[in-house]
Amino acid sequence: MLVATDLAPAGTRRAAGTTAAGPVVAVQDLVKRFGQNTVLDGVSLDIQRGQMVAIVGRSGSGKSTLLRCMNALETVEGGALRVCGHDVGQRDKLALRELRRDVGIVFQSYNLFPHLTVERNITLALTSVKKLAKAEACEVARRVLALVGLSDKAQSYPEQLSGGQSQRVAIARSLALSPQLMLFDEVTSALDPELTGEVLKVMEDLKRQGMTMVLVTHEMAFARRVADVVVFMHQGRVWEIGPPEELFTRPRTAEFAQFISSGL
Ligand SMILES: Nc1ncnc2c1ncn2[C@@H]1O[C@H](COP(=O)(O)OP(=O)(O)OP(=O)(O)O)[C@@H](O)[C@H]1O
Ligand SMILES: [Mg+2]
Repeated sequence: MLVATDLAPAGTRRAAGTTAAGPVVAVQDLVKRFGQNTVLDGVSLDIQRGQMVAIVGRSGSGKSTLLRCMNALETVEGGALRVCGHDVGQRDKLALRELRRDVGIVFQSYNLFPHLTVERNITLALTSVKKLAKAEACEVARRVLALVGLSDKAQSYPEQLSGGQSQRVAIARSLALSPQLMLFDEVTSALDPELTGEVLKVMEDLKRQGMTMVLVTHEMAFARRVADVVVFMHQGRVWEIGPPEELFTRPRTAEFAQFISSGL
């Protein structure tokens, strides 16, 4: 059984900017436009510590954009966004660095460095950005690889891994930086069902250990079973939000009912 302290060294779980009380993510009336296209049209959403929030919705409904906003990968046109105690609107370099120290993001594509071993893929940021000594960084790599069930792959190269294993390394690499919040954007979309299962299990383990997570997913059964809150996005808005059982059993809108029945 893994325990929460596996995720980060003692004392580093909470960054200076983060308060114990209050939501980890507070989104208020967020507006994002690409030219004339309003992609987020007044999104409000609070995410509490330890929650797993699953964002679902049709292609183009703004799911990835919302996630990217949480890590300041997008600028916004209106509203307020606080993540891990940081004002995401503040775009000076120091503020961005502090935000990204606290927030990990994993995408569908793993983006591992092909010429580096799994271990080096993980330790690179630790030694170059966090200035950890090599031995210390390797110890962190060992710990996070154990978390994702890949202790035996430290010396492998990305091309020797399956898609599921690569994605678990990408997750481990993110966890190595001791984030307060993890964002996952369709991390299983490129994987076949068996490999998808491996990655979903890692996310479920993380939740059990208290990690706060937001995931954009098409895995409805997983969202229903594991997430604390499901958000259905439609036309750039939070169309429905609530505990999965409630939402899936009694959809309040025709759009969500149709979305569920379409089997997406
Ligand atoms: N960099 C960009 N420039 C212009 N338009 C963009 C950009 N990124 C996203 N969009 C537009 O914003 C809208 C929302 O895109 P987004 O990627 O957030 O949707 P999504 O819900 O994640 O969809 P999918 O399920 O296909 O990943 C779409 O209309 C898309 O074309
Ligand atoms: Mg997307």
